[in-house]
Amino acid sequence: MPMKIAVVGTGYVGLTTCVGLADFGNHVVGVDIDREKVARLSAGDPVIYEAGLEYYLRENLAAGRLSFTTSMKEALRDAEVVFLAVGTPEKENGEADLSQIEAVLEELAPLIDHYLVVVTKSTVPVGTNRWIHEELSRMVDPRLFDVVSNPEFLREGKAIQDFFHPNRVVIGYENERVKEVMHEIYRPLYLIETPFVWCSWETAELIKYAANAFLATKISFINQVANLAEEVGADVHVIAKAMGMDGRISPKFLHPGPGFGGSCFPKDTKALVKIGERYGVDLSLVREVIRANEAQRMRMVEKAKRLLGGSLEGRRIAVLGLAFKAETDDVRETPAYPIIRAMLEEGAVVCAHDPLAMENFRRLVPSIEYAENEYEAARGADLVLICTEWNEYRNLDLERVAELMRERKILDTRNVLDPERARKTGFVYEGVGRIL
Ligand code: UGA
Repeated sequence: MPMKIAVVGTGYVGLTTCVGLADFGNHVVGVDIDREKVARLSAGDPVIYEAGLEYYLRENLAAGRLSFTTSMKEALRDAEVVFLAVGTPEKENGEADLSQIEAVLEELAPLIDHYLVVVTKSTVPVGTNRWIHEELSRMVDPRLFDVVSNPEFLREGKAIQDFFHPNRVVIGYENERVKEVMHEIYRPLYLIETPFVWCSWETAELIKYAANAFLATKISFINQVANLAEEVGADVHVIAKAMGMDGRISPKFLHPGPGFGGSCFPKDTKALVKIGERYGVDLSLVREVIRANEAQRMRMVEKAKRLLGGSLEGRRIAVLGLAFKAETDDVRETPAYPIIRAMLEEGAVVCAHDPLAMENFRRLVPSIEYAENEYEAARGADLVLICTEWNEYRNLDLERVAELMRERKILDTRNVLDPERARKTGFVYEGVGRIL
């Protein structure tokens, strides 16, 4: 039986949840306070760039299984389940800010007049689902609702694929009654034998933070190994590959670069350290991962400086790639931001290009030049600095770039180019962890 579901918040997680659950055959209403966004989503415009999202949005709107509204009341009218997918941004002290969840609960409580399963999708600190249960219990008869923690593991750029083919589905719960409901919602995933992890609220909450912090640790680890490889004349790619041949390590997330970014790893690692502090547990490893990540970004600036003879003053730098990773227009916590800021402070002139993220980045840094394409960015530059691993940069016409530049120098922080080819074309080339 298809379920009637409301999803509160239509950001990356909320919107993917909306279209995915609707595609499973459920009836889904997405709720957002942003009127313009609701209008655009209702018209089939996904607002954000995410591969496949537009197709699933339009298909499910057309099938009549999916709609959007600004009215919580309308969305909750016959809903059996409500997913909370509002933001939990970082507060100045690094903790997660739960004010949006709090506001939703206030609005939700008076509308609960029939049994409702409240599912938390947003990444929330340990103890939040218990707190949600307590908060709602103050306002509503506890027999009328149950709370479930169902953290999301989707990656931007692969969100749709991850939704339909998750490695696992984690469900934190207290009341056995929710099992049937969650089973019904995710029925198609059972058919493809997706593992389900049934556990307590606290365990589910911690799984999410531990998974993200572990992946972030792998990245900071390989970045430091890469830095060492540079000094001793080793090749980090061969090292990572050989390490990954050990099934206990796995080759994934061992790609060195300018440091991790995005809306999750930086925020979630900091939040985990804060959770540790709250419970008197020192998560020194995670703390160090954060520090190493910040240092990695600044190391890229130092490399640029060294390549340009010790000073960036008056030097023209073409930054290729502004998104925090390829296949997204998202610039949240992108390494390009601190790197460009630091270079500007040192007197550099920056001309940037990104196939998708220029508009978003312009809001962060309006004062630099933005080029129509990678070649225009390289015109007259003293250094090309590749910051995002876009495929189109892998296939750069190096001869053309060489002719356009003032000095032929490349700093490839994502190791997307072939160092040999770059050198043969007359470039001084530097990547990360492979001074060959
Ligand atoms: C991450 C996790 O991968 C998802 O499982 C999780 O659901 C999501 O956070 C979240 O918590 O919502 P995402 O932020 O979309 O997903 O991006 P990733 O593909 O994980 O990349 C994160 C950052 O690490 C990027 O800046 C990327 O360039 C960098 N990275 C990744 C590396 O520098 N090296 C690697 O080997 C892998």
